[in-house]
Amino acid sequence: MAQLWGGRFTKETDQLVYNFNASIGFDQKFYEQDIRGSMAHVKMLARQGILTEQEKEQILEGLEGIVKDVKEGTLEITAEYEDIHSFVEANLIERIGDAGKKLHTGRSRNDQVALDMKLYVRDEIDELKELVFHLLGTINHIMEENLETYMPGFTHLQKAQPLTLAHHMGAYYEMFYRDYGRLKDIRERMNYCPLGAGALAGTTYPLDREYTAQLLEFKGATRNSMDSVSDRDYVIELLSAMATIMMHLSRFSEEIIIWNSNEYQFVEIDDGYSTGSSIMPQKKNPDIAELVRGKTGRVYGALMSILTTMKGLPLAYNKDMQEDKELTFDAIDTTKGCLALFDGMLATLQFKKDVMERSARNGFTNATDAADYLVNHGVPFRDAHGIVGRLVLFCLEKGISLDEMTLDEYKNISPVFEEDIYEAISLKTCVEKRVTKGAPGPAVMKETVEENKRFLEEERKK
Ligand code: ARG
Repeated sequence: MAQLWGGRFTKETDQLVYNFNASIGFDQKFYEQDIRGSMAHVKMLARQGILTEQEKEQILEGLEGIVKDVKEGTLEITAEYEDIHSFVEANLIERIGDAGKKLHTGRSRNDQVALDMKLYVRDEIDELKELVFHLLGTINHIMEENLETYMPGFTHLQKAQPLTLAHHMGAYYEMFYRDYGRLKDIRERMNYCPLGAGALAGTTYPLDREYTAQLLEFKGATRNSMDSVSDRDYVIELLSAMATIMMHLSRFSEEIIIWNSNEYQFVEIDDGYSTGSSIMPQKKNPDIAELVRGKTGRVYGALMSILTTMKGLPLAYNKDMQEDKELTFDAIDTTKGCLALFDGMLATLQFKKDVMERSARNGFTNATDAADYLVNHGVPFRDAHGIVGRLVLFCLEKGISLDEMTLDEYKNISPVFEEDIYEAISLKTCVEKRVTKGAPGPAVMKETVEENKRFLEEERKK
């Protein structure tokens, strides 16, 4: 048991208590961030004359050595230490002696852990942003290739109106575009450095908190020391953003699963992204999409967990907050994994354009356009709706589609119909006529694709 405290205790900690209290099993994940924070702290202490230049150099060298050895596997982070902070400090003292004992001057584990978690979360936000950004590129590429790939659009999972694959993909582009924006917003809002808040009430040392913040690439130092050590809003915001990303991935997965089903056959998942059955030789299952859909639950769970942990905490630091880590780490790894795998699956997905188009031709997806035709010829919409309803009924009885009715059959139901009805309800017309902003008309969608490209290009430069 290696602890940073003990002076005022007369008894050893019970082993079970020690195990229950320890966080080394999971906070070792941010050893690099912990050391990065310590380095900045030490540089600031020296600049303020609290440590000598020599002590600073010794400590920095010691800390660099620890990172190097852990990375190379020559130094193992073991359960012998209570947490990552104790591990680093004990190791430092072992390496450089007394100077190491000064590392923790003007600092508490409360502001230290708040910093470590922030640095970790900020790094992970950057990685998540990259992954979402890449996915946006994949989606926009599919959009560009499929401006005129017709397919049925659904409401209630019933065929509704025809649209294009570009348009359908475009809806997902918007979702992930918002996700991307959310990640950027969170990063902006959280980007203030809590170090120097001490245990809760700052310190009496003449720290330069703005300098530490600057060294760690924060926009500035946090404004209230109690809030600094007890704020986990950014963890909650990130979990919420990831829950939304997962929800989007899950909906997309669900569609791919449906489209990949024997009944639909709109897509074929690449062999590299499918799995087989141990008993049924014919099977090719969409396991990746199913797992992404399934793992959404874990990320939601992490969000609910931290919200619940935080809800009853009085100011300032409470040990409950140690619970912010494990599930958050898991949720981050899960979301990153899902984004990467989903992207790969989507990029290699084969769209069966002929099946999609055939499906759009059946199922009366042009019924609204037939009603619009009547409206354009002076029939009030409500009456037009009724007339087309009768056309559909007629077709259903005969087992044909609207395009297959003869003009006489049309005229029997309404004399308003003329030869140009066929043109008006053709799949191409139905889609091409939809040219208002946000609609599937290929000309509008092309503009969207170009706009997306410009955005992606601009972002890449940043
Ligand atoms: N392991 C702790 C955590 O994750 C570090 C902070 C400990 N602070 C304390 N006062 N015990 O929150």
